[in-house]
Amino acid sequence: MRPLERDDLPALENLFADQEHMWDLMDIPGRSNDPGDLSRYYLERSLWAFEHHGAGMWGVLERDRSNAPILGYTGFVIDIGDDVNPAEKLEAGWAIARRAAGKGHAAEATARVLEHAFMDLGTRSIQAITSPHNLSSRRLMSRLGFAYDRDVVAYQGPQVLYAINRQDWLAGCRSAKLHASW
Ligand SMILES: CC(C)(COP(=O)(O)OP(=O)(O)OC[C@H]1O[C@@H](n2cnc3c(N)ncnc32)[C@H](O)[C@@H]1OP(=O)(O)O)[C@@H](O)C(=O)NCCC(=O)NCCS
Repeated sequence: MRPLERDDLPALENLFADQEHMWDLMDIPGRSNDPGDLSRYYLERSLWAFEHHGAGMWGVLERDRSNAPILGYTGFVIDIGDDVNPAEKLEAGWAIARRAAGKGHAAEATARVLEHAFMDLGTRSIQAITSPHNLSSRRLMSRLGFAYDRDVVAYQGPQVLYAINRQDWLAGCRSAKLHASW
């Protein structure tokens, strides 16, 4: 895993070209559905977010294949110009190419992203928003310890908002360690 780079653009375009798989990420207010436009937007806002807030999107790589194209991305949604405080609250987001989905990549990579936020950035709370029908994303959130918080209207439609705070994440880590030692 590493922050998204300009060289990831072709892999991002391939990802967004699979509109059936990426259906939940297609309707960004004020953006076209064009895979080239969307991937440039994702890349540029991530580069900006790392530069200004130290947190953006990380490219997910297959283990031992660090020179291969990224499988997808996971990290934090920060728009260009957003005045966020990463120590306060962040919004998480993710996508893994269809060919690599269902193999635990999003769960493994996002667990590391959460650890980075809670331990290194001192983030207090992380939220994630998805369509009520996006079962893989909801399942991922539950697996990572996010809890359903409320229904919201965002990204031009009804969404569900999940959240996890630092105390609950730390408690989950302690309990996982306890179970691992059994
Ligand atoms: C959501 C997404 C990132 C999950 O990535 P992934 O690498 O396949 O996820 P994982 O393999 O780590 O699985 C995480 C959990 O989701 C479940 N899951 C994966 N695909 C699923 C599917 N199609 N339907 C239901 N659950 C699914 C897994 O079983 C796992 O749950 P478990 O631990 O209880 O078994 C991926 O499906 C994706 O990129 N979707 C398209 C983009 C998208 O919708 N992003 C989110 C927008 S809010």
